[in-house]
Amino acid sequence: MPKVRVFAFAGSLRKGSLHKKLIEASKGLAPEGMEINAYDLKDIPPYNMDLEDAMPSAVADFKKRIAESDGVLMAVPEHNFSFSGVMKNAIDWASRPYGESAFDGKPVILQSVSPGRMGGSRAQYHLRQVLGALSMIQMQFPEVFIGPAGDVFDESGALTDERASEQIRKQLAAFKEFIAGRGD
Ligand SMILES: Cc1cc2nc3c(=O)[nH]c(=O)nc-3n(C[C@H](O)[C@H](O)[C@H](O)COP(=O)(O)O)c2cc1C
Repeated sequence: MPKVRVFAFAGSLRKGSLHKKLIEASKGLAPEGMEINAYDLKDIPPYNMDLEDAMPSAVADFKKRIAESDGVLMAVPEHNFSFSGVMKNAIDWASRPYGESAFDGKPVILQSVSPGRMGGSRAQYHLRQVLGALSMIQMQFPEVFIGPAGDVFDESGALTDERASEQIRKQLAAFKEFIAGRGD
């Protein structure tokens, strides 16, 4: 059986990003037969329609990797009750040019972690509206909101909270079934 390939990116550029750590943790929590490939958005420039005719190479690479995947994992920081501008910028690029979106029909799951008790849920609900515009196939449950982030990662950046780990394990196992159920 070929592996299910999940393309993952965090909507944060900083080195110590909790969302990058979530993706790293997800690699170890994925079910057998699923591989998670992490991508760093650091080379994606600010969106500019003038550049669409000759896509920046980082954007072309980002789109290619999305297209080659079986599903997408977005790790979604909450900024001012919404998702981060970094995430929106990358999504806008990959949706262009018109009619050539890399996201069309792709299965997608979301994960968030926040210092606040809401665990990034407001960011995800905003993002879901945008994913609808992209015709992505959203898996709703199980949801992954982790907050308050406080002690869930150790000093090395590893996810040590068993409840959070179990949430992610269940989500990824369900995502594997969700993708298989699409029948293509
Ligand atoms: C501009 C800005 C706005 C934020 N707004 C919220 C918010 O509305 N709700 C929340 O729970 N956390 C908020 N935070 C905290 C972030 O969710 C937190 O810094 C998180 O760790 C960001 O993800 P990262 O670690 O992957 O960079 C905000 C942070 C920033 C920088």
